[in-house]
Amino acid sequence: MDKLFWNGLTDLGARVDNVQIFIIALMGVCFIACNAVLIYFMLKYRRKTDNDVTSTVSGNQLLEIVWTVIPAVIMLFVFWYGVTVWGDLRTPPENAMTINVTGVQWAWRFEYPDGRIEAEDLYVPKGEAIRLNMISSDVLHSFFIPAFRVKEDVVPSQYTQLWFQAEKEGSFDIFCTEYCGDNHSFMLGKVHVLGPEAWDRWVRRVPDPNSIPLTPVQRGEKLFSKWGCAGCHSIDGSPNIGPTFKSLMGRAESMSDGQNIIVDENYIMESINQPDRQIVAGYPKGQMPAFEGQLSQQDITDIIDYIKSVE
Ligand code: CUA
Repeated sequence: MDKLFWNGLTDLGARVDNVQIFIIALMGVCFIACNAVLIYFMLKYRRKTDNDVTSTVSGNQLLEIVWTVIPAVIMLFVFWYGVTVWGDLRTPPENAMTINVTGVQWAWRFEYPDGRIEAEDLYVPKGEAIRLNMISSDVLHSFFIPAFRVKEDVVPSQYTQLWFQAEKEGSFDIFCTEYCGDNHSFMLGKVHVLGPEAWDRWVRRVPDPNSIPLTPVQRGEKLFSKWGCAGCHSIDGSPNIGPTFKSLMGRAESMSDGQNIIVDENYIMESINQPDRQIVAGYPKGQMPAFEGQLSQQDITDIIDYIKSVE
């Protein structure tokens, strides 16, 4: 029965579905059976003549025991069935690959055992157990992969975990399912399940030969959306949590410490790595996470090239 409704994606996902379907089917059977008996009794014992008198029934102990014990046994079975699957859902296998996940307003960051850091999208090998060790660097988030039927809160100052083992290659949605501020609904990502060859290529950071190389501006634009920059910086001049990127390069800005600067590559690099060092007047400190050590120099150069292109 375990694989009666097998969506082919994860074993546990199929078992979660089976619990749900079993409970719904059981409720359906009980509903139909109870109503059938009810209708049968209504017809059988309806008042047929004016002389019909209702007999006095004061109780039936055997009947009461039967209708208490049978549902109790069914309930215990449902509990046992659910708790068994839930237990497996909560217990990652010991050989699982652990990936650290950080939730930030408003993006996911993934840190792999080899030190590699990815934002937004999670890459995993097919057929291997993956354990996510999750924490938030700001507010409550919740990590949800609907296709795998796994979801867990991601909270500040406490690690939570979930695990899955994907059996089919493909890309599946990641959602944040805990309201976490303005751009909660843009806190999206994908989990990409890679076959052995693609995984090997990904691990060795070999670009896919089929993909056309992007220009620095295009790469920067991808990074811009990947790291959730758009959550705070507009590109059309509209006000937001941080300064707009529209015509940013070369702009004269006054700093909160009274200095006046002209925005150049070095100022943008510093603002990405250590945003609180020099804040544009009128913007509060501590709003933007420091990206120092998380982006390669190449990534920073590409992002700056993209920002330059925003006129
Ligand atoms: Cu993070 Cu909603």
